[in-house]
Amino acid sequence: MRAYDIILKKRQGQELSREEIEFFVRGYAGGEIPDYQAAAFLMAVYFRGLSFRETADLTMAMVASGETVDLSSIPGRKVDKHSTGGVGDKTTLVLAPLVAAAGVPVAKMSGRGLGHTGGTIDKLESIPGLRVSLTPQEFISQVRKIGLAVVAQSGNLVPADKKLYALRDVTATVDSVPLIASSVMSKKIAAGAEAIVLDVKVGDGAFMRTMEEARSLATTMVAIGRLVGRQTTAVISDMDQPLGFAVGNALEVREAIEALAGNGPADLVELCLVLGGHMLFLAGAAATPGEGAGRLEEVLRSGRALEKFKEMVREQGGDPKTVEEPDRLPLARHREVVVARGEGYVCAVKAKKIGRAAMLLGAGREKKEDSIDHGVGVVLHKKSGDYVKSGEALATLYASDAARIPPARREVEEAFALGVEKPPASNLIREVIG
Ligand code: URA
Repeated sequence: MRAYDIILKKRQGQELSREEIEFFVRGYAGGEIPDYQAAAFLMAVYFRGLSFRETADLTMAMVASGETVDLSSIPGRKVDKHSTGGVGDKTTLVLAPLVAAAGVPVAKMSGRGLGHTGGTIDKLESIPGLRVSLTPQEFISQVRKIGLAVVAQSGNLVPADKKLYALRDVTATVDSVPLIASSVMSKKIAAGAEAIVLDVKVGDGAFMRTMEEARSLATTMVAIGRLVGRQTTAVISDMDQPLGFAVGNALEVREAIEALAGNGPADLVELCLVLGGHMLFLAGAAATPGEGAGRLEEVLRSGRALEKFKEMVREQGGDPKTVEEPDRLPLARHREVVVARGEGYVCAVKAKKIGRAAMLLGAGREKKEDSIDHGVGVVLHKKSGDYVKSGEALATLYASDAARIPPARREVEEAFALGVEKPPASNLIREVIG
C-alpha cells in the first residue's frame, strides 16, 4: 500500500477501505508518512468528504493510535461532555462540579484554546497553583475520592489527532464534518466514559456556521457513538454571540464562580442546566433530561456545586481561597472601555470578532507554542437585544500591554451592530439529537 495511491483515490472521490484508512493513520502517527502527504490527504477529504463508514473507520483508527483510559474502577455510570469550541464558553467549569455535586462522577479531560476559541485547561490554569497534568492513577483516585477531576488530555491519548489537528489548523482543513467528528469522537471514545453529551456550537463564532452543517456534524457524531456502544446525545447551541459576558481565561473563571454561586448570566446557566440534565439522564440519575435539569437547578441554589468546585481546586493543588475571593485571580492592569457611537438595539455581538479581540490582547494563541496571558480579555456590557444610548459602555478591554489595545478595540467595535428595531430573541438551544 502507498500513501500516494490513497491520496489519489480520495482526490478522485472514491471510497477508501478500512485497511487504507488504518494504513494512513498508523503511518502518519508513526512518522513514516510525512506532513506534506497528510496535508494533501486532509485537503482531499475536505473537498471530497467521507462516507459515514469511512468516518467511523477513521475515528477508530485514531483511537487505536494511542492509549485508552479505563474508568471501570470508578463506581457509577460515567458521562463525558465535549464542546466543539466557542467564545466565552466556560460551560465545563460550571457543569462539571454541578453534575458531580448531584452525585454523578465526572472524569473529564479537556483541551486548550486555539485560534479565536478558548479552552478549559487554559482557563483552569489561571487559578494559582492548580495542576492540570495528573497521572492516570492520580486522575482516577481523585474522581474516586471527590467525584470530580478536570485535567489536560494525556499526550498518549489519540496521538494521531494531536498531529492531524495541528496540521489541519495550518492547512485550512478544520471546518470539515468528517474531520471534526472523527477528532472529537476519537478523544471521547479513548477517554473511557460510557455515555457522551456533545455541545455542538453553531453560528458566527463556531466551526459550523449553519444549522445544516451543525446537524450533519451532530448526527454523524451521535451515530459513531452508538456504533461503538456509547450512548451519545448532541445539543446544538447558539454561538452567534459569546456565551455569558466574559471572554478571556481568568475573567471566565470569575464568571464561572459567579454562576456556581447562583449569580451567573442567564445563557450560561441555561446551557449548563440543559447539558447537565442530559448527563444525569444518560447516567441513569434522572428519569428524563428535564427532571435532571430541575435537580441541577436545586443543586446550584444549594451552593453544593460551588463547594465541589472548591474541593476540586484544592485537590489539584490550587488555592481554594481564589474561589471565595475571585479578586485573587490575575487581572490585567490596562483597561479601555468601548462605547456606543450611536443609539439603538444591539442586533449582533459577533462572537468570532470578540474571540479574536481576546486573542489579540494575549488570551489565546496564534500558534500552538505561543504562551498566553491569563489576566487579559474582554468583558461585554451589552448583548443582542439590549438597548444602548450613545456613549454607553459596550465592552471593557483588559490588557497587560497597552500596545495591544488598538487592534483589539477595532475588532470589538466591528463586532457590535446596532439597529433601530429590536432583533427577535434567538434560541440558545437550537436542537437536541439522539
Ligand atoms: N474540537 C475538536 O476536538 N476537534 C476538532 O476537529 C474541532 C473541534
